[in-house]
Parts: sequence; structure tokens; C-alpha cells
Amino acid sequence: MNDKEKIVLITGATSGIGKEAAKALAQQGMKLVLPVRNLAKGQAFREEIHQLTGNGHVDLMECDLASLDSIRKFAETFNKKYDRLDVLINNAGIWEMKRNESKDGIELTFAVNHLAPFLLTNLLLDKLKASAPSRIVTVSSEAHRMGKINFDDLEGKHRWSWMGSYAQSKLANIFFTRQLKLQLKGTGVVANCLHPGMVATNLFDKMPRFMHPLMKLVMIPPKEGAETTVFLATSPQAKEVSGEYFAKRKVRKTTNYAHNKEVAEKLWKVSRQYTGL
Ligand SMILES: NC(=O)c1ccc[n+]([C@@H]2O[C@H](COP(=O)([O-])OP(=O)(O)OC[C@H]3O[C@@H](n4cnc5c(N)ncnc54)[C@H](OP(=O)(O)O)[C@@H]3O)[C@@H](O)[C@H]2O)c1
Repeated sequence: MNDKEKIVLITGATSGIGKEAAKALAQQGMKLVLPVRNLAKGQAFREEIHQLTGNGHVDLMECDLASLDSIRKFAETFNKKYDRLDVLINNAGIWEMKRNESKDGIELTFAVNHLAPFLLTNLLLDKLKASAPSRIVTVSSEAHRMGKINFDDLEGKHRWSWMGSYAQSKLANIFFTRQLKLQLKGTGVVANCLHPGMVATNLFDKMPRFMHPLMKLVMIPPKEGAETTVFLATSPQAKEVSGEYFAKRKVRKTTNYAHNKEVAEKLWKVSRQYTGL
């Protein structure tokens, strides 16, 4: 299929890595669907893309990833409106410094970083299968190395930490990707995840101010941070791989724990219960 006919859906395209990935894909002529929580911000970005690339197919649709109901409504509208989905990029993410809860009363980091892509992907799976060969790309992180899936206290109700909750959510992205690979065998849909690098974006805005100058020393610009996402979404090589974790466009090893099949299966089951799938 011609790239210009392809429909790419990217979450979190109003800032940072997602914004640069969206620009790069628009440059290649792909049709973009952007679920955004802030329509005004989305409209300004749509205008920017149009000016920059001449690509007029940027469809903004309201979706708050901190609300399971909003995700369901978005998916329903998308599934009615579009007859195909070639690439789904689960990019949106947050890093909270305090324990907060989503609209559904679920710990916010777990809700936005894991349950949202879990539910969204599952609701769009039939469309992806019908459009095969197609791809699912999920933005994880090296922070997964510090994580464990704490089934006794997934939401940190008893003990919460900013590092533990973020690391758990990014590890969950890897388990999710590996389970998708198994479930999508033979369908022509591949699922991969990635670490984008340490990227200068709004993700770290809530961190203590004194840490910012230190982090800036090692950070790369968002355009560079979007490269592996764009690679997984478009390259012929990435179409042949599934269930892997990438960084700098290459397959990278995860922790041994991230290969634990029992944990992956249990997390899938629990996530279904949370999302009512
Ligand atoms: N930056 C890094 O060094 C780094 C490293 C490893 C992994 N990552 C991962 O990369 C991904 C992108 O992060 P980034 O660094 O580009 O951060 P960012 O600049 O803060 O962008 C995050 C995006 O997610 C959107 N978002 C957040 N909560 C949402 C919600 N409830 N509903 C809808 N959209 C929501 C934001 O929308 P608004 O514009 O409305 O705020 C924004 O577009 C994340 O998954 C992050 O975990 C980043």
C-alpha cells in the first residue's frame, strides 16, 4: 500500500516525542488521527503540520486517556469513521511526583501509561487486523529496569513512589507488547515497544527544579527522540519483527524479569478486569 493511503493514530502528539513523530509521518504523506485531551492545543499543532508539510489530513479527536469512558467513546467514533488503521502509536505518557487518581479513581500513572494503551489497542484491534500488515508501537522506557509489577498493590495505595509507579508502568508496556505478539501470531499485525532516549520534553516538568540543569546535560532533542518510533512505524525491517524492545532503532535486551510469562499473563488478566474488556 502507498504510504499516502495509510492511517496512523498517535497518542500524545501535542508535545515532545509524539509531536516530532507526527511531523515526520506527516512529512511522509501519511494520514494522521490524533486523539488529544486539549483540542485548542491540537488545532494549533494541526496548523503547524499543515504549514510545515502541506499535509492536510490531520484529524483531531477528543480523548482523555485518564478516562476509560473517554477512550471507549473515542474508539467507537474512530471505528465508525475509518475503515482501516495501519499504525497505532501508543506514545502518550506521564510522570507524576505525587500520587493522583484518574477520572475512574485509578492511580494516574498506571491508568494513563498502561491501562489506556491496553484498552485503546484492544478496542482498535479488529481494525488493525483488517488492515494487515499493520503495526502497534508503544513507547516504553529504560526506567522499566527499576520496575516490578506489584500485584499486591498495583496502584500504590499502601506504598507509592514516583520512580516505582513510573517504572512499573513502563515495564507493563513491555509485558503488554510481548503478550500482543503471542495473541497476534499469524494475523499480520506486529507489536513492538521502545526506549526513545533521554529526551528534553515536558515529561519532567513536575520534577524538582534543581534536577533540571543536570538532566539537560544528557538529554537529546525531541526530534532525535522520535527516531525509533518513526522507524518502528514505517521501516520495512520493523514490519518483520514482533514482541521486541528497541532503542536507537535496534533490538535491545530487557531485564530477565520482563520475560516472565506468568507475570505477563496475570497482568493481561488484571488489566482486562480494570478496563472491563
Ligand atoms: N522524555 C523522555 O526522556 C522519555 C524517556 C523514556 C520514555 N518516554 C516516554 O515517551 C512518551 C512521550 O513522552 P514525552 O517525553 O514526549 O512527554 P510530553 O512532552 O510530556 O508529552 C506527553 C504527551 O502525552 C499527552 N497526555 C498526557 N496525559 C494525557 C491524557 N490524560 N490524555 C491524553 N493525552 C495525554 C500530553 O498531552 P498534553 O499536550 O495535553 O499535555 C502530551 O501530548 C511517554 O510515554 C514517556 O513515558 C520519554
